[in-house]
Amino acid sequence: MSAGKFYVTTPIYYVNDQPHIGHAYTTILADVLARYHRLSGAPTFFLTGADEHGQKVARAAERAGMTPQEQADTTVVRFQALWKRLGITNDDFIRTTEPRHTRVVQAILKDLHERDDIYRAEYDGWYCVPCERFYTEKDLVDGKCPEAGCGRPVERITESNYFFRMSKYQGWLVDYIRQHPAFIRPDFRRNETLGFLRKPLNDLCVSRPKKRLSWGIELPFDRDFVTYVWFDALVNYITGVGYGSDDALFRRWWPASCQLIGKDILTTHTVYWPTMLKAVNAPIPETIFAHGWWLVGRDKMSKTEGNVVDPMAFADRYGVDPFRYFLMAEMPLGQDASFTEEAFVRRYNTDLANDLGNMLSRVLKLVHSHAGGCVPAPGAEGAEEAHLREATLQAARAMRTSVEAMELDRGLASLAAALRETNRYFEKRRPWASAKAGDATALGTTLYHALEALRVVGGMLYPVMPEKMAELRAALGLPGQTSDFDDLTRWGVLAAGRRVGEPRSLFPRIEPDSRDPKLATAVKKDAMTPTPQTSPTSPTGPSASTAPTSGAAPVGVTAIAFDEFQKVQLRTAKILEAYKVEGADKLLRIVVEVGEEKRQIVAGIAKHYAPEQIVGKTIVLVYNLAPAKIRSVESNGMLLAATRGEQMRLVTLDGDLPSGAMVK
Ligand code: ME8
Ligand code: MG
Repeated sequence: MSAGKFYVTTPIYYVNDQPHIGHAYTTILADVLARYHRLSGAPTFFLTGADEHGQKVARAAERAGMTPQEQADTTVVRFQALWKRLGITNDDFIRTTEPRHTRVVQAILKDLHERDDIYRAEYDGWYCVPCERFYTEKDLVDGKCPEAGCGRPVERITESNYFFRMSKYQGWLVDYIRQHPAFIRPDFRRNETLGFLRKPLNDLCVSRPKKRLSWGIELPFDRDFVTYVWFDALVNYITGVGYGSDDALFRRWWPASCQLIGKDILTTHTVYWPTMLKAVNAPIPETIFAHGWWLVGRDKMSKTEGNVVDPMAFADRYGVDPFRYFLMAEMPLGQDASFTEEAFVRRYNTDLANDLGNMLSRVLKLVHSHAGGCVPAPGAEGAEEAHLREATLQAARAMRTSVEAMELDRGLASLAAALRETNRYFEKRRPWASAKAGDATALGTTLYHALEALRVVGGMLYPVMPEKMAELRAALGLPGQTSDFDDLTRWGVLAAGRRVGEPRSLFPRIEPDSRDPKLATAVKKDAMTPTPQTSPTSPTGPSASTAPTSGAAPVGVTAIAFDEFQKVQLRTAKILEAYKVEGADKLLRIVVEVGEEKRQIVAGIAKHYAPEQIVGKTIVLVYNLAPAKIRSVESNGMLLAATRGEQMRLVTLDGDLPSGAMVK
């Protein structure tokens, strides 16, 4: 991240489904880096976008009954809306269906084909549909997809295709990686790629016959084929900055300073991408940085597990800036981290509500009650003040270093420690006691230094929490939304006599039981509790095994009043149709008849019932459960089932009754 300018990219996300916190994380990380670099004065360009071709999008479109372009058009706006909501400051947003992109991809293909770097051959091997990648027999791990975090079954495929002579660049790539230690980061990922390159590199299949998949960029030299989605997608990083269309723009930004990716797409970015660039004689990016995975509790977040966290719902509930802060502070860059609502609430209450927000309002209150609402003039600096000053400026330096070192979580931990130091300082100096004793100098000194500490820490936190830190700045009576970094390396910037803002609660405390029950459906409470939505027998939902009891409820069962129970409307429903949910091996999509009405529900019973086994049955439905989307399928109600251990049985009726009957 030298060279004066800073060009940062995120992966372009598939528009096959709505964005989740994994996508939000990478994009927020890129945004935070972009904002830090802009503040430090570096010309900055930040590119994100959408990966719109390929099998995943084509399949999603088919499921949704749309054309792939319609699928892309409807999904891309969700990403764009989310980025807007999350305060993302990308300079451009590239879609791979845009002519500015497709034209250049075709030009590159044509050029490589003419130079015989792309050739036609028969292919026979293994294919991983979700990864859209080909493997030879020996690539496979236990007969399954070898990609980190995939491991899914592969399909055997034989067909004629076009290939990029990637193997030709293997020796060059290995040398390049060895000679450029900053190219693949963190270090252990570089080793992973070098390990992968110990085996002979195959040529890369860059086409798909249209008869199998037509949704892609047509090969300019053979109309029967479209371009392999990765060969198309990776090129976005250069088409987005004018490659092949605006040379000046391209020279200004390329090579990228930092290309962020998740560890799931390491090989494509550290093997395919640099060899493609080498083949077209373009410079190699300075750094490909692979971060780890967000897990939910201890589980992989996946659509199949039904534990995908919706970033929009989370930000709506708890605010955008705290969400950004949590993601940046909680994940050690490069490692996996766990996303749980508990961890969020804990960190929010400690770092933000208490150490930062509460500190600010305490200082401001005293400034208003005892210093006329203006920044007081400090007296001589004592040892305590010198200590606070040093600790705070040191934390600010650590934060800046951590951005360069890609250790944001450590920088943020230093800032949190500086805030704890400020709180300790305040408790020690007891400004309220100075006020009572009429010691205006001691009072002014303490308030001044506490305000300075908040100014510096708030300034350093600005790229992570831009809105809240602009509010903090306004509360300190400072002009403009941000300061430049120079002001954050100095102490004594606040001018005595300047009016401060009103005391305010920047981060109101979250009371643990004020948590939104709806969110619990998006975030698993802890790894051991099944997600209520997807489990018809969840402890938080009505359960056939919870027999009414008189008197106290059994231990571990929360007693509810009769009128609470009455809120739950149970009705009989007849199953008309049932289907498997693609990519979710526990779920069935079920169409039921409830009296006159037809409804769709999604139930986690696929491990126990085949669709055809349940059609015709009359079941019991929680009729007034708020609709929810499970794996993007709308579910209107929940069926009742009894479980014990591995067993599960549907609650059905003892005899005939029309559907829609009330169950009481
Ligand atoms: O792979 N934790 O798109 P994609 C952290 N279109 N980050 C996660 C995550 C998780 N659990 N899950 C996803 C593609 N991500 C291709 C990329 S680039 C030329 C083409 C993030 O929609 C992470 O950044 O599957 C990961 O690399 C990316 O989403 C994959 O998004
Ligand atoms: Mg993916």
